[in-house]
Amino acid sequence: MTEKLASLTFSDGTPKADFPVMSGTMGADVVDIRPLYGKTGKFTYDPGFISTASCLSKITYIDGDAGILMYRGYPIEELAEHCDFLEVAYLILNGELPNKKQKHEFDNLVAHHTMVHEQLARFYSGFRRDAHPMAVLCGVIGALSAFYHDALDINDPRHRDISAFRLIAKVPTITAMSYKYNVGQPFIYPRNDLSYAANFLNMMFAVPCEKYEPNPVLVRALDRILILHADHEQNASTSTVRLAGSSGANPFACMAAGVASLWGPAHGGANEAVLKMLAEIGDVSNIGKYIARVKDRQDHSMLYGFGHRVYKNYDPRAKLIQRTCHEVLEEVGLKDDKLFKLALALEKIALEDDYFIKRKLYPNVDFYSGIVYKALGIPVSLFTAIFAVARTVGWIAQWNEMISDPDQKIGRPRQLYVGPGKRAFVPMDERK
Ligand code: CMC
Repeated sequence: MTEKLASLTFSDGTPKADFPVMSGTMGADVVDIRPLYGKTGKFTYDPGFISTASCLSKITYIDGDAGILMYRGYPIEELAEHCDFLEVAYLILNGELPNKKQKHEFDNLVAHHTMVHEQLARFYSGFRRDAHPMAVLCGVIGALSAFYHDALDINDPRHRDISAFRLIAKVPTITAMSYKYNVGQPFIYPRNDLSYAANFLNMMFAVPCEKYEPNPVLVRALDRILILHADHEQNASTSTVRLAGSSGANPFACMAAGVASLWGPAHGGANEAVLKMLAEIGDVSNIGKYIARVKDRQDHSMLYGFGHRVYKNYDPRAKLIQRTCHEVLEEVGLKDDKLFKLALALEKIALEDDYFIKRKLYPNVDFYSGIVYKALGIPVSLFTAIFAVARTVGWIAQWNEMISDPDQKIGRPRQLYVGPGKRAFVPMDERK
């Protein structure tokens, strides 16, 4: 087969240069511009990485125009329908769905690492009671490297595996502890007899003085939401994890970096922003006014939960969450939930509006997830932390993939310098 090439010509006399074009299993080809600087003395300019593939990956595939998402080749719809979260986590980490024995062993492995070092609990008292859970997660997840440094050799695959299941097991515990600290209730230890999602709900809502039985419909809903958020290829937080990890930093520090990036309202923080936006709109009759503000460029309002860098079609996760939303609201007796009705009406109006049609802005994963969380009894400030619980799997799998890649190099973008040229130093008493 002849090698595909891309040729770059210049109007400034720089000789033409050819670059190999690489093809993946699916999706757009990429031009390998690594030799660009050597051949031409020039860099590329791509703020926001709009046209840049930063790595090869075998984990997640998105076709943004068609609204398709697959983990390891399996469509998200089938995984959400047939698997539980740990089955999907195994798939994302190992590349294949587990057989019965592997699944049983993996469930056990995770369940037996859900407790955190007792001393870690003391970190919480250093935070204000009203600390945002994401602030707590940034600190406490980073602090794990001070507790679990027995397996921090990133070049040892076994150590990487140990850190992976420690993180997957402990992040829900740390998240639930941040909630308990907020509300002033005692921390609830994990229960190994419960599923991943049921254990999380138990750590959130059980209290020592009463028996708590997680509702299976709500457990399934949370589990599905975790599946839908588990990975999403090279999004901002995952790229942050990879970039942090490219210097050889330990995985716990890298995950803390991922949490920090996820927190922003353009990324994982959007689920919290959606609920605040819906509360601000308040009633279907105010939607028109809000949409007008969004379209007014001076106003800086956004339609949170809408739009995506990659999806130029309905986000497949949003469709699945909308269905989950119906199931959960029915179960908790909120079939006529005002917020859900408002969200449905807002979606309908936005999808018929020229502004959103022209820009191909559709609901994303965050548009309906907050309504489900709210119905589960999860406070708004904890929404993004739940996203972090799920995405920990993607972050650690992508980090591991990067470390194992022989082409891996420290991430180090270049720049186009537009500051002052060289100038003479002015001593302080001569400065104006
Ligand atoms: N409301 C109003 N206008 C929007 C929105 C929105 N939610 N999203 C994009 N636009 C406009 C944007 O202003 C731009 O308009 P123009 O061409 O006139 O300048 C156009 O649509 C293209 O948008 P962009 O900013 O170039 O798109 P991007 O790929 O850089 O940003 C995004 C993607 C997700 C950051 C953005 O759509 C956004 O901020 N959405 C709201 C926040 C949100 O819901 N984030 C969750 C993303 S999905 C979950 C996750 O992975 O974290």
